[in-house]
Amino acid sequence: MKKIICKTYNEMSWKAADIVITAVKEKPGLVLGLPTGTTPIGMYDALANAYKDGFVNFSRVATFNLDEYVGLTPDHPQSYRYFMDKHLFGRVNIKPKNTHVPDGAAADLGAAARNYDALIEKSGGIDLFVVGIGQNGHIGFNEPAASMPAFTHVVELTQNTIEANSRLFNGMSEVPLKAVTQGMATILRAKKILLLASGESKRAALEKMESGIITLDCPATLLNLHRDVTALLS
Ligand code: F6R
Repeated sequence: MKKIICKTYNEMSWKAADIVITAVKEKPGLVLGLPTGTTPIGMYDALANAYKDGFVNFSRVATFNLDEYVGLTPDHPQSYRYFMDKHLFGRVNIKPKNTHVPDGAAADLGAAARNYDALIEKSGGIDLFVVGIGQNGHIGFNEPAASMPAFTHVVELTQNTIEANSRLFNGMSEVPLKAVTQGMATILRAKKILLLASGESKRAALEKMESGIITLDCPATLLNLHRDVTALLS
């Protein structure tokens, strides 16, 4: 794993955007895996600015987001589809039909999850997967557990995640208890992974990941199985 320590959050965000832009220049039809959350907002701002200034063209890029809350429709302000439209998709020239976020409001969540994996397969798989990390070491919403499905699935959120994410809702009782997430197998099949982490609250999970011991108690440790991970830390 390649580790790059950045002095500031802004530096981390610009470096992350630079890696994405370079990848899009090398492969204009890049298939990107993307996270939501507080951490990637600076990277999305940097990408939107780079697009505005003519440095990057997203017209052939396809994206597959990591996860979505169960029960939230795309027009819900806390849904991850809403987040992505606001922070990135609505600010660059990506084609809406090429942007994918798991459907957390599907009547048949299992079928929607299988369809999501099939779409990723059909696109040729993910070239570059940008991921964040939870305080508890989750990647996407692959929460610490004794076992976990390899591919896209519905998951019950842990108390730690509900508490951490309640800052964006009007209280804990409004945070959905379940989410749909891509599985660790899809994440690990990406050609390249870029992990973004900022702040003290992520230190314990990062230390476990960097220990090199693999355990499902800290799903981020599974990233040690991949040969091309860059961690940008601030
Ligand atoms: C969100 C996601 C989560 C976040 C993680 C960190 O799509 O997949 O795993 O990356 O919870 O969130 P922030 O960046 O808000 O600390």
